[in-house]
Amino acid sequence: MSCADCGNIAKEAREIVAEVGSEPEKVIPLLQEIQNRHGYLSQELVEAVAEEIKLPVSRLYGVATFYSQFRFEPIGKNLIKVCKGTACHVAGAEKVYSIISEKLGIEEGETTDDQLFTLESVACLGCCSLAPVVMINDSIYGKLNPAKMGKILKEYADGK
Ligand code: FES
Repeated sequence: MSCADCGNIAKEAREIVAEVGSEPEKVIPLLQEIQNRHGYLSQELVEAVAEEIKLPVSRLYGVATFYSQFRFEPIGKNLIKVCKGTACHVAGAEKVYSIISEKLGIEEGETTDDQLFTLESVACLGCCSLAPVVMINDSIYGKLNPAKMGKILKEYADGK
């Protein structure tokens, strides 16, 4: 890392703390803001924010590891969330998951080598009437089957 990067990270940490607050009870919103900006908890930024709010970095990681919403690795350009809630499970979510995993060669929590896709599963996306449902970035796809899912993946792979 160059010193220019260090300066930028410290500046961003100050911005985040100014926006969210520096009280100890703001640790979760601070971590959420880091993840909103970068898609994951960048180690340098977590350290810089800890310094800014004068808490040990271990305290921030202690909180972060307790909640499954936080990621510690960068995500791909497209984040795929496969719903495995009850309605989707009954409607065939496992088959949809399998076709994604097979076509991309990744399992849950992994990112493709070309950084194009990250695969996750979630409990319920809140649109059970469309089961089985997959969310890619901000778009919801419902009433899926493996063939339909394969076509959608190809669109994203082609640069959608
Ligand atoms: S169970 Fe899948 S959207 Fe609710």
